[in-house]
Amino acid sequence: MERKIIDPNEFVSNSTGLWSKQWLLLTSGDLGKNDYNTMTIAWGSIGVMWNKPFVQVVVRPTRYTYEFMEKYDTFTLTAFPEKFKDRLKYLGTVSGKDEDKILKSGLSIISSEKVSAPGFKEAELIIECKKMYWDDFKPSNFADSKIDGSYPDKDYHRIYFGEIVSISGIEKYK
Ligand SMILES: Cc1cc2nc3c(=O)[nH]c(=O)nc-3n(C[C@H](O)[C@H](O)[C@H](O)COP(=O)(O)O)c2cc1C
Repeated sequence: MERKIIDPNEFVSNSTGLWSKQWLLLTSGDLGKNDYNTMTIAWGSIGVMWNKPFVQVVVRPTRYTYEFMEKYDTFTLTAFPEKFKDRLKYLGTVSGKDEDKILKSGLSIISSEKVSAPGFKEAELIIECKKMYWDDFKPSNFADSKIDGSYPDKDYHRIYFGEIVSISGIEKYK
């Protein structure tokens, strides 16, 4: 896809729909080492922290991608046109631990502009991030007790903040 570099301060998106409706791929690892994994995510946010543009993603420790998020200091978020929805569903259902799901998805890995975690050629939006903070959800801090219902296995997400170091996207994101 034809993407252009976008200044994070000029980045335009449907702030909740990009996550909950369109979904994103979270890819972590190092392309140079041929060591990376990806998974679909729908929970997270984009904003400003410590005067830097940042994204927040949440990853359950049971995900294979979690191991890469822990091992490496960069990750990418990629959004795709609607026609790729089936592939995102697949990448969000099967674990990279069990099969070479990136290969099977037919999506093409590409190098990023600024980080070692890769992106995807077919993406209409690529956000490159450098890990800046992490924490774990503490169930004792859930102000709404219903939230605990999202964790029958007590696999509370690890929260990662990533400083946005590059955004490239098609015209609609500018
Ligand atoms: C639409 C959708 C959204 C998802 N959002 C998240 C999320 O925000 N955080 C998370 O830990 N898992 C999320 N998942 C689940 C992972 O994508 C899924 O468990 C995946 O198979 C993990 O792959 P891995 O084991 O290769 O890392 C989501 C799945 C789907 C289909």
